[in-house]
Amino acid sequence: MNPIDRLQALPRERFAFLPTPLVELPRLSARLGGPHLWMKRDDQTGLGFGGNKVRKLEFLVGDALSRGCDALVTSGAGQSNHCRQTAAAAAAVGLGCVLALGGEEPEGPSTGNLLLDRLFGATIRWCGPRRKGERVGALLDELRAAGRRPYEIPYGGSNEVGALGFVAAMGELKAQLAERRMEDATVVVASSSGGTQAGMAVGADLFHLPVRIVGVAIDKDEGAGGPYEAQLANLANRIASRLGMRVEYTADRFDVRSDYLGGGYGVVGDLEREAIRLVARAEGILLDPVYTGRAMGGLVDLVRRGGLGPGEPVIFWHTGGAPALFARADELLP
Ligand SMILES: Cc1ncc(COP(=O)(O)O)c(C=O)c1O
Repeated sequence: MNPIDRLQALPRERFAFLPTPLVELPRLSARLGGPHLWMKRDDQTGLGFGGNKVRKLEFLVGDALSRGCDALVTSGAGQSNHCRQTAAAAAAVGLGCVLALGGEEPEGPSTGNLLLDRLFGATIRWCGPRRKGERVGALLDELRAAGRRPYEIPYGGSNEVGALGFVAAMGELKAQLAERRMEDATVVVASSSGGTQAGMAVGADLFHLPVRIVGVAIDKDEGAGGPYEAQLANLANRIASRLGMRVEYTADRFDVRSDYLGGGYGVVGDLEREAIRLVARAEGILLDPVYTGRAMGGLVDLVRRGGLGPGEPVIFWHTGGAPALFARADELLP
């Protein structure tokens, strides 16, 4: 079977509203005076307020159901978009959902993604400083001991199953770019646990789409799997081998900009605040405080420094996350 047929034959739950729109940003382009800007609206994937994880969850939940599992278990920050979309996906197919969230249980009413996790019926375990799944092993044991069949989804849904959602997304993008004769566009995207950027790189090769992909790093590289670019190459190789593709990825294939980490993961600074307000006021589109605000801040800086040329087609891939705005109200307005 060729790799495209293999991708199409894998178990998949069709949660997302696809294709997501590819829209022009005329007022933002004029304000920045640089490239011709477009936006791929994955904030509109539909399920549970949308976002990039819905694409990954199509393949992850497909896999979970094909294995007869009865609960999804994953991890993330207290305001994780990934966890909220996982909780929605579990509800949509009648699975249980257990979330291992970083931090302590906040006082006062639940807000933002946490409110939504609870509305979707997820069980929440607070894990203190550990937000990347360090406690999930113990949770899985506990569930198995209680007779459940849990399915583990890694932090960010970023393994060779979840990332297939972004391999498939590049086939979708190819059709949209072909219509507009823009196949050589640059894609700018927030990059954190890696499944989005690694999946895009493999998908671009699979569908012969010559886009340039620029990832804006959101979280500092903690070094466990080596430098972030090496982690992306490793994941890309696992995805490609799952599809039977004969390619070998190395770290230098990945363009990652790590200049915008500011005060660290989830810390809203002037870069994020200004980017969120700029796009809201120029285009009536909401970014989020952790990922797309930072990635757009990076894009604006790249334009100002001449890294994205005048008239060049540039696609900002909106990966979602706006529900977290409500949890950060006092940091977003002056
Ligand atoms: C809104 C948003 N954008 C981007 C990302 C990053 O995607 P990935 O973890 O696949 O690199 C995430 C995931 O955590 C997210 O929630």
